[in-house]
Amino acid sequence: MVFDDIRNIYKAELSDDQFDKLGAFINRETGIKMPPAKKVMVQARLKKRLKELGIPTFEAYLQYVFGKDGIESEVVHVFDAISTNKTDFFREPVHFSFLKEHVLPEFKAKNNSSTLKVWSAACSSGEEPYTLAMSISEFLGGGKDFDFRIHGTDISTLILKMALNAVFTEERLRPAVPEYLVRKYFMKSTDAVKRTYRAVPELRQKMSFSRVNFMDESYPLSEKFDVIFCRNVLIYFDRNVQEAVVQKICRYLKPGGYFFHGHSESLIGMNLPLKNVRPTVFQKI
Ligand SMILES: C[S@@+](CC[C@H](N)C(=O)[O-])C[C@H]1O[C@@H](n2cnc3c(N)ncnc32)[C@H](O)[C@@H]1O
Repeated sequence: MVFDDIRNIYKAELSDDQFDKLGAFINRETGIKMPPAKKVMVQARLKKRLKELGIPTFEAYLQYVFGKDGIESEVVHVFDAISTNKTDFFREPVHFSFLKEHVLPEFKAKNNSSTLKVWSAACSSGEEPYTLAMSISEFLGGGKDFDFRIHGTDISTLILKMALNAVFTEERLRPAVPEYLVRKYFMKSTDAVKRTYRAVPELRQKMSFSRVNFMDESYPLSEKFDVIFCRNVLIYFDRNVQEAVVQKICRYLKPGGYFFHGHSESLIGMNLPLKNVRPTVFQKI
């Protein structure tokens, strides 16, 4: 790429019309609301992609995205760029307390020797599923009362690679994860400059990850789950989309299984096969 081209990319601007077209497409495909206020964020994030591809204008980029090749290979990068992946270890800790105090003892009493199956739906970079794995391992305390598996899904392939890799920076880990859990469940990198931590194989082998877009008709999941965490993602959808998504998710929840959503979300007034057991915690009827 010549110097002038690079300078043009820095100057590239997404017009209102281009944003409307792209926003409508993103909303239709992902369910994510795309109000005009998101234009600046979308422009900034996609500019990085323009630079990577050496495409100087948004006009040319959108032609590529909506062309035959783009629909097959570029759309996934658009979704990666626009999704908000904010997450934390032990986010909304009351959910992990409820899990340890109610859900896991109940499962242990009823299902001796079977496998607890947990779905972290919209798992982002893995902090939520690894928190689940640590919480369940701690409950089991090395005992073999039951086995467990955690399946993480997300629309973003980029973020799923991070989750699968299970490498976290010092800042991601601390102070959210108590020191004794860091020592027990993470291996420190030898690189003294960029200190990172990788989840131990005993946790990683409990995990699997795959791409699921909640907007699809049905989800490529071959099993039903005892527990589903679907937190801090419904908030990005309109209410009718939220209801349709949770209805579909419920198809993958066993009767009596637990569904958790984020504290800034609400299912009040929706027609769902769920009964409320705690604020933000439901059980399948
Ligand atoms: C804010 S993060 C929440 C992560 C985690 N559940 C938590 O509470 O910390 C929202 C995640 O939802 C994912 N997402 C957005 N739209 C989606 C869709 N249509 N289908 C599946 N995942 C989606 C994003 O890629 C992002 O990783």
